[in-house]
Amino acid sequence: MKIPAATCGLVLPFFARSVLAGATYSLSDSIVGEGFYNAFNFEAIPDPTNGRVNYVDQATAQSLNLTYATSNTFIMRADDTTVLSSSGPGRNSVRIRTNNQYTTHVAVFDMPHMPQGCGTWPAVWETAESNWPDGGEVDIVEGVNNVEPNQSTLHTSPNCSMPASGVTQLGTAVYTDCDTTVNGNAGCGVKLTEDYNSFGPGFNNIGGGWYAIERTNNYISIWFWERGDASAPSDATSGAATIDTSNWGTPAAYFPNTDCDLATHFAANDIIINLTFCECS
Ligand SMILES: *[C@@H]1O[C@H](CO)[C@@H](O)[C@H](O)[C@H]1NC(C)=O
Ligand SMILES: *[C@@H]1O[C@H](CO)[C@@H](O)[C@H](O)[C@H]1NC(C)=O
Ligand SMILES: *[C@@H]1O[C@H](CO)[C@@H](O)[C@H](O)[C@H]1NC(C)=O
Ligand SMILES: *[C@@H]1O[C@H](CO)[C@@H](O)[C@H](O)[C@H]1NC(C)=O
Repeated sequence: MKIPAATCGLVLPFFARSVLAGATYSLSDSIVGEGFYNAFNFEAIPDPTNGRVNYVDQATAQSLNLTYATSNTFIMRADDTTVLSSSGPGRNSVRIRTNNQYTTHVAVFDMPHMPQGCGTWPAVWETAESNWPDGGEVDIVEGVNNVEPNQSTLHTSPNCSMPASGVTQLGTAVYTDCDTTVNGNAGCGVKLTEDYNSFGPGFNNIGGGWYAIERTNNYISIWFWERGDASAPSDATSGAATIDTSNWGTPAAYFPNTDCDLATHFAANDIIINLTFCECS
C-alpha cells in the first residue's frame, strides 16, 4: 500500500462538541472545548482496522498541534504536512475514547467540520471494545474518501437483524443482518440518502451540523440535521437541560428490536472518535 502524502494527506480540522443525556433525558454530561481532555482518553494504539495511521498520545498530539482546545471548541486532526516514506509507519493522527460508558442514552454531536479528502476515514462510533462484538457496536457516522459509506450501522453478535421493510426512517437500508460473522462484517447499515450534506465537503461547506443517537432497549435511532436547518430541534442543538426525542421527527436511521434483543446485544459502550486513513482508489 502506498499513499502519496502530497495528495492524500489533505485533512482539515475536526471540531466536536457533545452533549450527553441520561436515560431520563436530563443532561448528564456536557463535553465542550477543553472538557474533551478530561472526558476522553487519547489512545496511542495500533489501528485495529489496519488503517495507515500512527495514533499519538495526548501530550504528543498537543505538542504537534494535532489537538487544540479553547473554552468552546475542541479540534482533533491528522498531520497533513509531512511527506511520508512509503515503507514507514502511517500518518500521525488521533483516536479518542470516553472515560465513561453509556448504556441507554442520548448523545448529540455538534460538529462544524469533519476531515475531508482522499483517504480520510473519520468515524464517530460507540462500542465495548474489550467485549466485541458481544457488547455491540453502533457506527453513528463513518465514511471514506468523502463518499460512501456515509451511513449508520450496527455490528452485533448473532441473532440480531433488522426488518427488511416497514421501517420508518429517512435513509435506505443496505444489509439487514447485524451479525459480524455474515456479509464480511458489513453489519446492518442505513445509508443517509436524505441529505447529501451529511458528510465530506458538502458537510463542511454548510458549517456541518448535528448527529444524534438515542439508544433504548426498544430501538436505536440516529438523526442528522444540517446547521441552519429550521427543523432541527432546539433542545438538541442548544444542549438543553432536558430533551424530548419524541419531537425530533423521523430519524435518518432507525433500528428497532423487532428481530434483535437490543438489551442483550448491547452492553455499556464507550464513545470513540477516530481519524484513520485507507488506501486511495
Ligand atoms: C475507526 O472507526 C471505525 C468505525 O467504524 C472502526 O471500524 C475502526 O475500527 C476504527 N478504526 C480505528 C483505527 O480506530
Ligand atoms: C494550533 O491550532 C490552532 C487551531 O487551528 C491554531 O489557532 C493555532 O495557531 C495553532 N498553534 C500553533 C502553534 O500552530
Ligand atoms: C451519501 O450516500 C449517498 C447514498 O449512497 C450517496 O449518493 C451520496 O453521494 C453520499 N454523499 C456523500 C457526501 O458522501
Ligand atoms: C434469538 O433472539 C430471539 C429474540 O429476538 C429469542 O427469542 C431467541 O431465543 C434467540 N435465539 C437464539 C438461538 O438465541
